[in-house]
Amino acid sequence: MIAPLIKAEGLERVYKLRRGPFGKAVPVRAVDGVSLAVMPGETLGIVGESGSGKSTLGRMLLGIDPAQSGAVTFEGSRMPALGTAEWRALRARMQLVYQDPLAALDRRLTIAAQIREPLDIHGLLPRDARSARVQDLMIGVGLRRDQAGSYPHELSGGQRQRAVIARALATSPKLLVCDEPVSALDVSIQAQVVNMLRDLQEKNHIAMIFISHDLKVVRNIADRVAVMYLGRIVEEASSDVIFQAPKHPYTKALVSSVPVPGKPLTGRMILQGEPPNPANRPSGCAFHPRCPLAGDICRTASPALREIGEGRMAACHMVEGADAPMAA
Ligand SMILES: Nc1ncnc2c1ncn2[C@@H]1O[C@H](COP(=O)(O)OP(=O)(O)O)[C@@H](O)[C@H]1O
Ligand SMILES: [Mg+2]
Repeated sequence: MIAPLIKAEGLERVYKLRRGPFGKAVPVRAVDGVSLAVMPGETLGIVGESGSGKSTLGRMLLGIDPAQSGAVTFEGSRMPALGTAEWRALRARMQLVYQDPLAALDRRLTIAAQIREPLDIHGLLPRDARSARVQDLMIGVGLRRDQAGSYPHELSGGQRQRAVIARALATSPKLLVCDEPVSALDVSIQAQVVNMLRDLQEKNHIAMIFISHDLKVVRNIADRVAVMYLGRIVEEASSDVIFQAPKHPYTKALVSSVPVPGKPLTGRMILQGEPPNPANRPSGCAFHPRCPLAGDICRTASPALREIGEGRMAACHMVEGADAPMAA
């Protein structure tokens, strides 16, 4: 049996949010008991509305944001503490790509210099082989050789994100965490960058955690999808199952709003009520105020994430499954 590349168990992260200069600090449960595992070479999509804790979870998986409870294991070993030499060494094996390439790049350095940086920092390859490696990386992400001397502001948004991805791949990482990597790009460019990422990931057998609020994007890249709502995973299954037969009412609503090319958008479920606010988490199932199926039990008892079929999990009192408590 193959072991997971990365595994998280019971991750929790609570931020203190102060309202106004004299306000009392309110706890915000950004990540509230998340467990997951990603196999080598696999792509896990993480979807959910803004504020559901996706970015916090991504940072925790890389050890950038320390877990208050729970643990992350990478290649079978416990994640070393942030800033230690062990952690820095591990960063060559797991990289982060986030939404804003301009913020990720140094505007005073050429893109070739920035793609080369991780090779110098981690002392990878003999010095005289590094320039050739930078060229290969640039071509691999669809940049032209003659763009090596360009500065970030001379490139388009899509080209900048390609440069960020080339830099992330420089150290041949085993895991790439992509947090909304195409959300800032033109819709016409998004698919190109996603396809490029998928090709590179398959070719190099890299595991990927692909975070997005946009299900359309995730469908094109993820093998498996975890749906988050207010800091918790509420449904997890293979991408096909999530998109063709979602079980959780929240997933159903999300999926029903994604257009399928060539088909009219029918049976769309519009989510009622307030968007989720982690500083004011509803009792019981956090989704119940917006759920069309909510019954009494949903207002009082928080549903656990449980297996509802082969390789699929959901946290919902109203979904049938082996040990589902049926609502009255
Ligand atoms: N550094 C921080 N300090 C305080 N609160 C934070 C911080 N980062 C995130 N949060 C809060 O945690 C919750 C989850 O945020 P985030 O992980 O960014 O969600 P998402 O990426 O799904 O939009 C939000 O309510 C956000 O305001
Ligand atoms: Mg985010």
